[in-house]
Amino acid sequence: MRCKIPSIVGLALAAVVLTAAAPAPKELSGKLEMFSWWTAGGEADGLNAMYALYRKANPKVEIINATVAGGAGTNAKAVLSTRLTGGDPPDSFQLHAGLEVEKYEPQKFLQPLDGLYTSEGWTKVFPKDLIALLKYKDHFWGVPVNIHRANVLWYNRKVFDDNGLKPPTTWTEFFKSSDALKAKGIVPLVIGTKEGWEAGHTFETILASVLGPNGYKGLWAGTTPWTAPKVTDALNTFKRLMTYANTDYAALTWSDAAQYLVDGKGGMHIMGDWTDGWFTSKNYTGYGWAPVPGSQGTFDALSDSFAATKGAKDQANLMAWLKLAGSKAGQEAFNPKKGSICARTDCDPKLFNAYLQSAMKDWSTNAIVPSVAHGAAAVEKWATVYKDILNAFATRGDVAAAQKALQQACVDNEVCK
Ligand code: GAL
Repeated sequence: MRCKIPSIVGLALAAVVLTAAAPAPKELSGKLEMFSWWTAGGEADGLNAMYALYRKANPKVEIINATVAGGAGTNAKAVLSTRLTGGDPPDSFQLHAGLEVEKYEPQKFLQPLDGLYTSEGWTKVFPKDLIALLKYKDHFWGVPVNIHRANVLWYNRKVFDDNGLKPPTTWTEFFKSSDALKAKGIVPLVIGTKEGWEAGHTFETILASVLGPNGYKGLWAGTTPWTAPKVTDALNTFKRLMTYANTDYAALTWSDAAQYLVDGKGGMHIMGDWTDGWFTSKNYTGYGWAPVPGSQGTFDALSDSFAATKGAKDQANLMAWLKLAGSKAGQEAFNPKKGSICARTDCDPKLFNAYLQSAMKDWSTNAIVPSVAHGAAAVEKWATVYKDILNAFATRGDVAAAQKALQQACVDNEVCK
């Protein structure tokens, strides 16, 4: 006699059989080598938070945290190039979204990540402008983990309150506040130019302020001439600003300079919002922030992404890393510590501090311009010349020579005639 199994039991049995038959996901093992310049403060804290998630999901994978210290990747990028061309690539590395990728000859040394963008649905969760920035020669070469803002003026709230000052909104106000602070023996503007990129960083925020978002973007696209009187104004503003700076600037890094603010010896600092992560890592809460004077409504942006090398030794582990970097959980773990906002649009704002919540708001409402000091606006060889010109200018202050050199750099890169 045939025994008739009630359909519900039948279904349950089928489910058991199916579950048993489905191959268990293969547990990953071996190594994952990830290369970056995040060695300290909020930068290392953010990276470690993502590593912790990765280790939890893949306890048998050993993470090799390959780092070369130096802000903006000054030292790391050279080491990375040597490793890529020498056939010894890490699995993944930190890469700015934008034209920086050209430096690494992506078609030769990197894996296009278009398939991952499709399978993970990333074209829907990253904003349009960012997607456009990430595409180079029609492919995606990196997975963005964040958005940073370059044009922030940080200030010591107590120093400002004690002197009856408000964050300046124009350069005239900036120099007036600077005079007041100087008279009290406080360094008005703290800056460190030791690593060679910081003057270029500061100046691009002045350019964005003086030329406005479209004028600034035009400098990198050949539609705003570098010979324009407003570029002269911007150089003069930067020159004047340096007269209010700490005299030891050439010996300090950006974070050494930020320490002046923490110690109450400095009033203001122009730097990207990794400073917010650095302050947080120091448990320092006495800072305020504002857009660089005159750049209200403009968001000078950059994004850190992770690339996949062609010769990666640990392919499956690498893909698991990239998926984590692009995920909501990964970005929510990384960014509040790093001092950046998510590249994704669906992160929970409640996980972020007041500064970062204000950055989220500005990112969705401001005019976005690409940072040159951090890989977005120009190819690396142009950005490098630009940074060198400004680094020399910070000390020499020769406006005409700097403007001429900037114009020539644009010609040499075939963007200007
Ligand atoms: C930028 C990078 C940031 C931060 C900063 C200072 O180029 O995108 O994540 O590391 O340099 O080092």
